[in-house]
Amino acid sequence: MKSILFTSILLLLIGCGSDRDQYQQEQTEEQTLRSAFEGSFLIGTILNHRQIFGQDQRGQDLAVREFNAVTAENVMKWENIHPEPGVYDFDAADTMIDIAEENGMFVVGHTLVWHSQTPDWVFYDDEGELLSREALLERMKDHIETVVGRYKGRVHGWDVVNEAIVDDGTMRDTYWYRIIGEDFLVKAFEYAHAVDPEAELYYNDYSLEIPSKREGAIRLVEYLQENDAPITGIGTQGHFMLDFPDLEEIEKTITDFAALGIDVMVTELDIDVLPPAFDYMGADVSASAEMREELNPYPDALPDSVQQQLTDRYRDIFEIYLRHSDDITRVTFWGVTDGDSWKNNWPVSGRTNYPLIFDRNWEPKPAYHAIIELAEEHR
Ligand code: XIL
Repeated sequence: MKSILFTSILLLLIGCGSDRDQYQQEQTEEQTLRSAFEGSFLIGTILNHRQIFGQDQRGQDLAVREFNAVTAENVMKWENIHPEPGVYDFDAADTMIDIAEENGMFVVGHTLVWHSQTPDWVFYDDEGELLSREALLERMKDHIETVVGRYKGRVHGWDVVNEAIVDDGTMRDTYWYRIIGEDFLVKAFEYAHAVDPEAELYYNDYSLEIPSKREGAIRLVEYLQENDAPITGIGTQGHFMLDFPDLEEIEKTITDFAALGIDVMVTELDIDVLPPAFDYMGADVSASAEMREELNPYPDALPDSVQQQLTDRYRDIFEIYLRHSDDITRVTFWGVTDGDSWKNNWPVSGRTNYPLIFDRNWEPKPAYHAIIELAEEHR
């Protein structure tokens, strides 16, 4: 990416006067996140089903104009792409990747091996018995070979394993771990690498800003490296709140993982502005809480004071990201606009949240302008 930037700057410098003027003018008129963050890191978003198929064409248009990396919010998860034994449904993923290619976007595959949004049949045989280690490894291999194989050279990076550890840093008790053991991760990375040796391969998780979980993830990456698993990067999801986690922990998360010699990415950034429904601060998709009126204080509009807090928070966080742009290869938002965000329905269904940088009318929010300004200063 940096070499592309270097070449474009060179071309700009040596280009003849009038062409250059015109190009620079277009650049200013067409200012986007893509142009502002060029040379720092990729700036990405997700596409949901409605955006992929054009039912939300405005969302799709906004995504391809502003961002240069894309992840599927749900359509590449096991339950969608491989809903039944031997049955694959590639339609939505194919369509998303076509859109990405038409618009010169980096494509992230999310996600190969996870405990959530994976059907139960994956772990059982025809008699309803839990699979053996060998049989589950075989099933994992078949899935990875089929999905990674189909998109070889078109998906540039894969979230190979998602969310394998818990807050205290120990392994999460999932079918993958229980049946196969800790080396399910080593195997998953090996299988993916064998099919597409060019693809970047990531471990992805949330709450890595919590020291005990971060330390567990560091041990996990070291274990993968010691066992020659072809991991190239770590995805820190970045499901944040206005006052959690501390900026120091956000920064330390980046520097600690960069010290392991792998790429660091922020893969699912959003900032929840609503009151927490419970003490839990993570992003476990199975967590849920009942709606209570006090949990939904801004059903009509975000008060200016909270908008300001959100802008300041985004500015503080992006200051850190830009300071470490040599270690960070991508920052991806988990949603195009506030209206699409999973945070309207998680962990409480039916709330009105404002966690992103575009509002429900597809318009940029003050936080958008704040981070563009920072990126421009950084260039
Ligand atoms: C979420 C999606 O945004 C929702 O639409 C879906 O109902 C549940 O999953 N960590 C992840 C993402 O890795 O895949 C999750 O996405 C959010 C938490």
